[in-house]
Amino acid sequence: MQVGERIALLRKEKGFTQEQIAVSLSITAQAVSKWENGNALPDTALLPNLASVLEVSIDRLLTGRDVTIKSSPYDKEYQKEKYYWGMQHSLLAEQIVTIIKDTKGRHLIDVGSGEGRDSIYFAKCGFTVDSLEISIPGIEKIKHYSKLENCTVNTIHANLMGFEFSDFYDVIYSMGSLQFLPLDQRRNHFEKYKHYTNIGGYNAHLVFVDKPFIAIAPDWEKNEFFYWSGELAGYYHDWEIIQCGEQIIDCNSANIPHQHAVSYIIARKKVLST
Ligand SMILES: C[S@@+](CC[C@H](N)C(=O)[O-])C[C@H]1O[C@@H](n2cnc3c(N)ncnc32)[C@H](O)[C@@H]1O
Repeated sequence: MQVGERIALLRKEKGFTQEQIAVSLSITAQAVSKWENGNALPDTALLPNLASVLEVSIDRLLTGRDVTIKSSPYDKEYQKEKYYWGMQHSLLAEQIVTIIKDTKGRHLIDVGSGEGRDSIYFAKCGFTVDSLEISIPGIEKIKHYSKLENCTVNTIHANLMGFEFSDFYDVIYSMGSLQFLPLDQRRNHFEKYKHYTNIGGYNAHLVFVDKPFIAIAPDWEKNEFFYWSGELAGYYHDWEIIQCGEQIIDCNSANIPHQHAVSYIIARKKVLST
């Protein structure tokens, strides 16, 4: 994606017109239009203000990545003794184990693993688990919990955006963490996950979906972005869809009972037929 296209996307995400951006930067709407059409680039001196108006870092504005982020909105919660997301693994994790059966030594990455409830379940079921999380207190919790359960989980402290895969996986899994991916990064991201999956391997994700009749969760952050119905399945149109659906779930995070609309998928990378 070119810089101009990204500016247009970010501007629309924020609901601004070209005129409104122009007024905030004391320039003309034609200048904004030129950037968005790829006929010019913003002047370097304008970048700090432009990034601030669009509420992104200059890094993200120019490259689409935000590798500078090194903390999580959940850091404070993860510092507490209590497990914010509980210690019970999720249903999607259980479904993966049921489907794969022969899990021993299979390589799995849990992206945005939080305090490790699913990573630890996978490890106890025989997977070789990489647990990727941006929160240092989260990583500490995973280490503590895996010790308690006497199992091994390889923790990776990293930002899922810009994370360079150095290995191929049998399962790439995420539970409620890919809403942190900005819209303009999603397609590339899912392509990367698909690429780094072994033939016959699986991707399994659960994401939050926008529904007009479900109120926004009390702990929903400014840098979280809803998916739309069917979006997840679209990224896996060329894979075998094993399970895919949408449902309304109850949640008690932040100690406030609320609901989420979620979309989930388990998809399998098929051998190419010749
Ligand atoms: C809703 S929580 C889900 C945690 C866990 N998957 C679970 O189900 O218990 C989302 C997790 O994504 C992590 N996260 C947010 N942004 C991230 C990023 N850019 N890179 C890696 N992890 C991130 C958060 O710190 C948080 O632990």
